[in-house]
Amino acid sequence: MPVSIKTPQEIEKMRVAGRLTSEVLDYITPFVKPGVTTDELNMLCHNLIVDKQHGIPAPLNYAPDGHKPYPKSICTSINHQVCHGVPSNKALKNGDIVNLDITVIKDGYHGDSSRMFCVGEPSIQARRLCEITYQSLWRGIRAVKPGAYLGDIGHAIQSFVEPLGYSVVREFCGHGIGRRFHEEPQILHYGRPKTGLKLEAGMTFTIEPMINVGKAAIKHLGDGWTVVTKDHSLSAQYEHTILVTDTGFEILTVSDGCPPPPAP
Ligand code: MF3
Ligand code: CO
Ligand code: CO
Repeated sequence: MPVSIKTPQEIEKMRVAGRLTSEVLDYITPFVKPGVTTDELNMLCHNLIVDKQHGIPAPLNYAPDGHKPYPKSICTSINHQVCHGVPSNKALKNGDIVNLDITVIKDGYHGDSSRMFCVGEPSIQARRLCEITYQSLWRGIRAVKPGAYLGDIGHAIQSFVEPLGYSVVREFCGHGIGRRFHEEPQILHYGRPKTGLKLEAGMTFTIEPMINVGKAAIKHLGDGWTVVTKDHSLSAQYEHTILVTDTGFEILTVSDGCPPPPAP
């Protein structure tokens, strides 16, 4: 399937789905405290999406090739978990950092966004990782405009985090998004300027860098979903769904509770 260019009608639906997705993250923020289980966070988000937003939590039963169906409605990735952490009856504890990744389907279109949350008072190292990862997402976002290349996005992220001593996970990437959760193209979070696909207005995709304190290598846990750093170093991720506009970018996963953009 080629990369789709969304019509104005589709873009309006993506805005709605994106806002709902971001509003789930706003809603769940005060609940992310020591003692809460990730199952409880999952249930709260699930109920908001289904009962209040009249949407569908895209992860629930999502089964891409080679995977068993994902069993929960959100992803909760704690500390050295890189992505796709599965909610459980384990409680968050003081000092944890956790990524909550939300994908809402509304009127046939997807919004996909994730943020990091500090549980109590994490270490300075953990908080700095989250901060740098958020800044790296924005480096990527600011590279988006018609005529730019996918490699510009990856390079903006990689050239920012690696000199600071962090590493970029290679095995997972951002993705086109729309009627389907994961569409073409793949958005790598590393790369060389002026390489890869040229961006055009009307493309919609996610940018979602996974950044590690230690080495880039990852491994899969036996549950078939959870991904962790091989060296067990801390990992962080932020994600937005982006539209390429005539002049640059528009963030589709926006709401009042979004962390403010970092200084350029
Ligand atoms: N939300 C993730 C992404 O950003 C994908 C999660 S797939 C799931 O692409 F099945 F684990 F939910
Ligand atoms: Co995504
Ligand atoms: Co996501």
